[in-house]
Amino acid sequence: MITVTSLSTKGGSGKTTLIQMLASGALARGLRVHALDGDTDQQLTEWRAKSDAADWNGLQRVSWPEGLTIGPIPETVDALYEALNGWEEDGIDLVLIDTRPGENPETENLALAADMIVVPAVPTQSDFVAVQKTLDWIDRMAATLADGYPQPLRGVVMLNAPPKAMALVTAANEAELARARDKVHAQDLEVYEVVKRMPMLPTPVPTSQTFRRMPLSGPLTVVRDTYATDPRSRLAAGHIKAALDYCEELLVDIETAVKNREEAVA
Ligand SMILES: Nc1ncnc2c1ncn2[C@@H]1O[C@H](COP(=O)(O)OP(=O)(O)OP(=O)(O)O)[C@@H](O)[C@H]1O
Ligand SMILES: [Mg+2]
Repeated sequence: MITVTSLSTKGGSGKTTLIQMLASGALARGLRVHALDGDTDQQLTEWRAKSDAADWNGLQRVSWPEGLTIGPIPETVDALYEALNGWEEDGIDLVLIDTRPGENPETENLALAADMIVVPAVPTQSDFVAVQKTLDWIDRMAATLADGYPQPLRGVVMLNAPPKAMALVTAANEAELARARDKVHAQDLEVYEVVKRMPMLPTPVPTSQTFRRMPLSGPLTVVRDTYATDPRSRLAAGHIKAALDYCEELLVDIETAVKNREEAVA
């Protein structure tokens, strides 16, 4: 079982989106997921009800996936670790923890319980300041761990990236990189230079309506399977598959990092 906590000092930075993406990617691969809502606004807790109430243009929505449950954060740290053991015994493959913005002490326990802390980074000046602040905060809290206690891995995820940013970070060679740089504003280039020095996961996530609608639609496997019942939805199906591919790639990035660490320890 892998535990992932989404963390950022900044509100509206994409924490819940990351959790919903990872849940979608895991479901697409047939994994069992339990998600914990550590935010006061209950965005994640309400996901299922919102998905149920969404307007599907007359389509009959497929039912909520059995492999995904969402619950509250256990009341104490001891109860949290006990619950994590229980979920592992029950065969849960992935535990996802959403958190609220700001440097809250309760959030620190949720971060330190994770194998990996993921930090969303929208490629703008203000968001990258917040990412650095979040990484510094993680360093401070990790320094409080006893010697020999495993450090959580950090993964910054470029999220909600416009096409120009995607072209820049996915350039396959020098010529492509030069072309991409030409199209980007000098100020933004500075941001991308900062990005390169951060512990980035390899998969950047583009801006997409499919992700924007995810809080209302539910996991993207639900969207995919619902649209599959309608022959007129072929175009939409392409967008959904592309979005789901990003979700799965992100999950593979995390699994790979966790596996590499385990091998390094062994
Ligand atoms: N790749 C993307 N494409 C389009 N929209 C996106 C993408 N990623 C995030 N967003 C949008 O950005 C907004 C903020 O995201 P989200 O709600 O996940 O942030 P948050 O950090 O959880 O916010 P809060 O601090 O309020 O809990 C949402 O409207 C979300 O749909
Ligand atoms: Mg949120």
